[in-house]
Amino acid sequence: MQADLLLKNASLPDGRTGIDIACKDGRIIDLGTRLAIAAAQEIDCAGLLVSPPFIDCHFHMDATLSLGLPRMNESGTLLEGIALWGELKPILTIDAVIERALKYCDLAVSQGLLAIRSHVDVCDDRLLAVDALLEVKKQIAPYIDLQLVAFPQDGYFRSPTAKQNLLRALDKGVDVVGGIPHFERTMNEGAQSVRELCEIAAERGLRVDLHCDETDDPLSRHIETLTCETQRLGLQGRVAGSHLTSMHSMDNYYVSKLIALMAESEIAAIANPLINITLQGRHDTYPKRRGMTRVPELRKAGITVAFGHDCVMDPWYSMGSGDMLEVASMGLHVAQMTSRDDIRACFDAVTTEPAKIMGLENYGIAVGNHADLVVLQAKDSIEAIRLRANRLFVIRRGKVIAQTPTRQTSLDLPGRPGTLRAETYAPGA
Ligand code: FE2
Repeated sequence: MQADLLLKNASLPDGRTGIDIACKDGRIIDLGTRLAIAAAQEIDCAGLLVSPPFIDCHFHMDATLSLGLPRMNESGTLLEGIALWGELKPILTIDAVIERALKYCDLAVSQGLLAIRSHVDVCDDRLLAVDALLEVKKQIAPYIDLQLVAFPQDGYFRSPTAKQNLLRALDKGVDVVGGIPHFERTMNEGAQSVRELCEIAAERGLRVDLHCDETDDPLSRHIETLTCETQRLGLQGRVAGSHLTSMHSMDNYYVSKLIALMAESEIAAIANPLINITLQGRHDTYPKRRGMTRVPELRKAGITVAFGHDCVMDPWYSMGSGDMLEVASMGLHVAQMTSRDDIRACFDAVTTEPAKIMGLENYGIAVGNHADLVVLQAKDSIEAIRLRANRLFVIRRGKVIAQTPTRQTSLDLPGRPGTLRAETYAPGA
């Protein structure tokens, strides 16, 4: 039998080296050392890392690349960002939203980012962003898996038509139920929104992903209600809490109870390190809180934890480039996850962990799975994060869909001529 594509001498994120990967008809058909199989195309990986694609399980594709429209966020705060988005919404056009989203997806592919969960604002009676992103989802399906979350940005109760719009969005084909309980008018209304949103998900057999407690207020405890509702409605394994930044500021004793509740409810946590470190602690003088949720402690309790990008060049965040290695790097720094195992876990937080949260099937480097792969200019996952490694080849269903030349610098120094490649610096070498 002839394969379509053979990757030779790859290193894998789990530490295996010298691995050949054979792909045919969009699937991985064989995996091992020195495979004796012919292929129409061969890539010599020369010991470099081959990873499954990057995944961003928390993004806002309806707002991306809108930076400066209609003006800049001068304070840099979450609340000015929400107000600014409110100014932009009425003047959005469907074509402009689609164009910006497709442009972002080009960038994503170039970075090996091939699955995205995007929240889409439903607090616009036209549901313009919903229609735009459903169209984008269709167009990019050959190269990116896009999952959409119905997100009532202005509050499920606080925005008068949010409830009916959220249901309309789900009827149109939006995949996941979203919410923003800490933005409702009262703690009680926030808790009630969690209850109703989970009921909607249970009735429709959908997943739940709430912007939950994205605040520095340690008394914002909607995650507690979310654990309770998840158990009451049998939603275990289908619910994610995004941000959970109030946990950063909570009393340690209370958190010791809360994390156990989250673990028994099989709730996943999604931290957004770039955004959390930027938006949280804004009311602090010094010391300033980091604001990110308690990633190492959640992981230790067996909870699935992923890192999301959240924003790229939009009303909330003027930076970003669709690079999930930048996200992993920030997560590592903010959470002080500096042991070798912890750094590898940060790589998992932008690959295998979000795959679980999104329920992606046939993801990962194993025989029978989709032949979706990224060849990185790094020897292992630790070096990939350290270098924000170049994506040499991005492969979707066994076909190369993006290529970037090897990055190297020619040096002309006195007595030291030569070329420099960043990945030549190995620990202890
Ligand atoms: Fe978000």
